[in-house]
Amino acid sequence: SITVDPTAQGAKIDDTMYGVFFEDINRAADGGLYAELVQNRSFEYSTADNGSYTPLTAWTVGGTAKVVNDSGRLNDRNRNYLSLGAGSSVTNGGYNTGIRVEQGKRYDFSVWARAESGTALTVTLKDAAGALGTARQVAVKGGWAKYEATFTATRTSNRGRLTVAATDAAALDMVSLFPRDTYKNQPNGLRKDLAEKIAALQPGFVRFPGGCLVNTGSMEDYSEASGWQRKRSYQWKDTVGPVEERATNANFWGYNQSYGLGYYEYFRFSEDIGAMPLPVVPALVTGCGQNKATDDEALLKRHIQDTLDLIEFANGPVTSKWGKLRARMGHPKPFHLTHLGVGNEENLPNEFFARFQRFRAAIEAKYPDITVVSNSGPDDSGTTFDTAWKLNREAKVDMVDEHYYNSPNWFLQNNDRYDSYDRSGPKVFLGEYASQGNAWKNGLSEAAFMTGLERNADVVKLASYAPLLANEDYVQWRPDLIWFNNRASWNSTNYEVQKLFMNNVGDRVVPSKATTTPNVSGPITGAVGLSTWATSAAYDDVKVTAADGSTLLSDDFSGDASKWTHTGAGSWSVQDGQYVQTDAAAENTMVQAGDPSWHDYDLHVKATKKSGK
Ligand code: AHR
Repeated sequence: SITVDPTAQGAKIDDTMYGVFFEDINRAADGGLYAELVQNRSFEYSTADNGSYTPLTAWTVGGTAKVVNDSGRLNDRNRNYLSLGAGSSVTNGGYNTGIRVEQGKRYDFSVWARAESGTALTVTLKDAAGALGTARQVAVKGGWAKYEATFTATRTSNRGRLTVAATDAAALDMVSLFPRDTYKNQPNGLRKDLAEKIAALQPGFVRFPGGCLVNTGSMEDYSEASGWQRKRSYQWKDTVGPVEERATNANFWGYNQSYGLGYYEYFRFSEDIGAMPLPVVPALVTGCGQNKATDDEALLKRHIQDTLDLIEFANGPVTSKWGKLRARMGHPKPFHLTHLGVGNEENLPNEFFARFQRFRAAIEAKYPDITVVSNSGPDDSGTTFDTAWKLNREAKVDMVDEHYYNSPNWFLQNNDRYDSYDRSGPKVFLGEYASQGNAWKNGLSEAAFMTGLERNADVVKLASYAPLLANEDYVQWRPDLIWFNNRASWNSTNYEVQKLFMNNVGDRVVPSKATTTPNVSGPITGAVGLSTWATSAAYDDVKVTAADGSTLLSDDFSGDASKWTHTGAGSWSVQDGQYVQTDAAAENTMVQAGDPSWHDYDLHVKATKKSGK
């Protein structure tokens, strides 16, 4: 029975309470939300991005062609270009199974080309069954210039290939094929089905661009003098302006990021879906398995100035330096930035906080209306978490970002997590959370947990599930909210839970009380699992007990591990009576079948975490 007191006043719930967290992980941007269909369009892929890459990854050459990095380049930030021999061609295979085109829809081809003596380019779109549109001819003559042509697809295909053939020698760069039909028809826009799925959530905010993407590598030099070296962190200034002038970079998750989807596009998308933009900048301390902090004062000052410039880019008048760039890119009106995160999952709370305070002071001095969001590290509790919270509380920080990925059972058991949070302390931004899986039980446990967030809406001001997107052929992290490939996208159960809450945000909590007698007929058949992601970790003594204390499963790994099923890319073995995972950043799941009645069990794991996460 549920008892509701309609006269009682519970917490007020902000319209922005539930949002999304977009990080370019699992190819969420290139090959995902960013609608570009050509992979490696500017021939910048390199081993610095991924050991298996070359500048011709995703391309095949007919005749003679080579990637050149010399002073004949398109511009300083776009280092490589393709030198195509007379009578030669290059073909791009897109992402997943190929370039996806739909019958009757239009696709805009463009290329930057240089051919001092002139050449004719023939551009074709085909699959194994033949042409997917009428071939286009482009006459090129002179120095670097942009050339364009449009295809109308005559058939639907998931396996398209784009070929550019030249009669005479030519230099090519930024070979692009873009669907005309992007979300809200925006130029340099977003893939419609994915953007629509995000928009259908009606998110209150969009947190971007990461995640570990933001702070890892943030201590690297990112000056032009370094020759646009890879492994720089995500710098917002690299991601704005004309796309051909955005230097591509190594993405923390092991691939190349074109920055075609950059800060302007994030702000524009937030506005298009009526969500508050919430960018996160690095605080010059790295978490995500890299426990470092820099004392480079010049670098710190530069990052602080970049952050002030970011606020000017978002909100400044068109007469200001960065407001003018925003206007030139097509948006003279401000983007109404009100919240900004500094830092992500730093494992060194003292070092983080000292630097955070520098950012905060500079931002508050110039932009007192901006809410500067701090951080509590990578866990839901523990020494780092407690230290970070103590520092944040003592300094009267406005809002603290918490992250945790836990079992469904943890989410069920922690519904009351925020009931005891200090009402006079910083507010909570739950910037990343997920129960470990995309199954129904995961969605259910998250829904149960979210009722606790909502009950505490006076303290928990913002919450976003993470991560948002995953291309099924390029996965670094699971579970994820929305899955896709080059031709389709589909929602997880967790998505439906988020949608239910986001589409039905109340004004105020009405206090209620439920009493019930559990009515469970027999155990629900299932399995127990342990999901690990560690640089080097050993697990021992796994034990699952039922609520009545009886042991459902136990293993001390003294025998072989044959009763476990393993999935995932990580390497593991049983050594000296322990389950050992030996490689970095690869997720391993070990599962043992049984009937542990998942809704009511305790899992005990004795783990030795040597490093990593
Ligand atoms: O959401 C995936 C990753 O989880 C984020 O990049 C990071 O902040 C967290 O560890």
